[in-house]
Amino acid sequence: MATIRLGDEAPNFTAQTSEGKIDFHDWLGDSWGVLFSHPADYTPVCTTELGAVAKYKDEFDKRNTKVVALSVDDVESHHGWIKDINETQNTTVNFPIIADEDKKVSKLYDMIHPNADSNLTVRSVFVIDNHKKVKLIITYPASTGRNFDELLRVIDSLQLTAYHKVATPANWQNGDDCVVVPAVATADIPAIFPKGFKEVKPYLRMTPQPNLN
Ligand code: BEZ
Repeated sequence: MATIRLGDEAPNFTAQTSEGKIDFHDWLGDSWGVLFSHPADYTPVCTTELGAVAKYKDEFDKRNTKVVALSVDDVESHHGWIKDINETQNTTVNFPIIADEDKKVSKLYDMIHPNADSNLTVRSVFVIDNHKKVKLIITYPASTGRNFDELLRVIDSLQLTAYHKVATPANWQNGDDCVVVPAVATADIPAIFPKGFKEVKPYLRMTPQPNLN
């Protein structure tokens, strides 16, 4: 297992899922992707998480982002648990769950942290761009369910900053002003950002979000 770092190509794999066998790179196609692990099937926090993700399908679609979950249980277990998720979270699970019984993918992505739990995956999140590059890695412990609004917020930032010479400041939300990246000289800002800018300090230049009308 090699360490996966930001900017690396997301390692490819084949796996059985609740929606059939996938080749990860083929499955991603030209989309962005979220690969996220959870400790086990039929566990309470995970049940709420997967229900929450199913309800956000439209939001992920708007961002051209496919979602795939993973746990170290088998496909049959996933199918039984999906029924429970649908029933208890009032939704329909609409994304595949990888059945990583042999821990092949968990090990490839370093999702088992032995000093937290020697057998189960932690709550890992990998956001992968449309060129298969790893853009974000977040790790939560089993006891803390993830905030999927935050995940959407981060994807908005990643997609914005991939195409425009901006970065997003603390607590930025889609629509807020952005920071002009330091590599852009102040003299060049008017040509690149016609909506205007404010120089708070020579190194802190704010501009309206460039990809909004
Ligand atoms: C859960 O998903 O609810 C959970 C799993 C492992 C430990 C604690 C909580």
